[in-house]
Amino acid sequence: MKDWTPDVTSEYETVCELAARSGGAVLRDWSGKLRVREKGPADFVTEADLASQDSIRQVILGRFPDHGFVAEENTEPPHADRPNWVVDPLDGTTNFVHGLTHYAVSIAVEWGGTILAGAVYDPVSDECFTASRSGGARLNGAIISTSEASRVSDALVAISFPPRVRADTLEVADFVRIISDCQAIRRMGSAALNLCYVACGRMDAYWAHTIYPWDVAAGVLLVREAGGVVTAPGGTPFDLWRPAFVASATEPLHEDLKRYIRPAGGDSSQTFKA
Ligand code: IPD
Ligand code: CA
Ligand code: CA
Repeated sequence: MKDWTPDVTSEYETVCELAARSGGAVLRDWSGKLRVREKGPADFVTEADLASQDSIRQVILGRFPDHGFVAEENTEPPHADRPNWVVDPLDGTTNFVHGLTHYAVSIAVEWGGTILAGAVYDPVSDECFTASRSGGARLNGAIISTSEASRVSDALVAISFPPRVRADTLEVADFVRIISDCQAIRRMGSAALNLCYVACGRMDAYWAHTIYPWDVAAGVLLVREAGGVVTAPGGTPFDLWRPAFVASATEPLHEDLKRYIRPAGGDSSQTFKA
């Protein structure tokens, strides 16, 4: 069987960064001059998403033409027998269309469910977060690590809800319970950047029940390589193709969070099995 793991996974990390920067340059060009299409209720796609994805595809498949390309705007299923590049060409589209300057490009490469490398690029702040498996996590080349927060009461936490989340769901009930116990809570609009912010210590924890592989593939690796913990809600192993997760800066904080976050049955991932 062909060995798809390069001698150094840092080669994948380099290509992740190149591709993310290329998509980010496209987003910068499109900023402020776009037409918007609604894919579903409060779910937007723009010409910028599509142009960013085209540019990323060229970088990745130009270098690895026989790899899989699982990107938000083309929904190609993952391959079981080769690496898959898992791509969100614009994470934070709602922010982008409102001129709110908090969005990013997220690129990762996985093989057999293991995330080998990833990059998240914020084209507004020019911050590029990168990681490779067992190779650490970096922000613009400098090593990053998670915070030392160990209790919910000391934690700045982020959460994602799906568009038009219903008020009578478990995830909203959990959110209401934690809001009075944590230091503060944020819902910023980019899952990829939330994970990067946990990785570099700006935030302490982040979770989502309804989320997609391309939102989190790079960020989950970043948190882990920066010293943090990621599991599925309830503490079972994280599965990229059923990607509901809880990410925490430390093991004690992760334990403390379990008191609040129940497995709430997010349904974003059933169609993603290789
Ligand atoms: C969304 C963002 C948001 C999260 C949603 C995602 P998009 O991605 O990451 O923070 O709450 O679940 O779908 O649509 O902007 O790429
Ligand atoms: Ca996204
Ligand atoms: Ca997107």
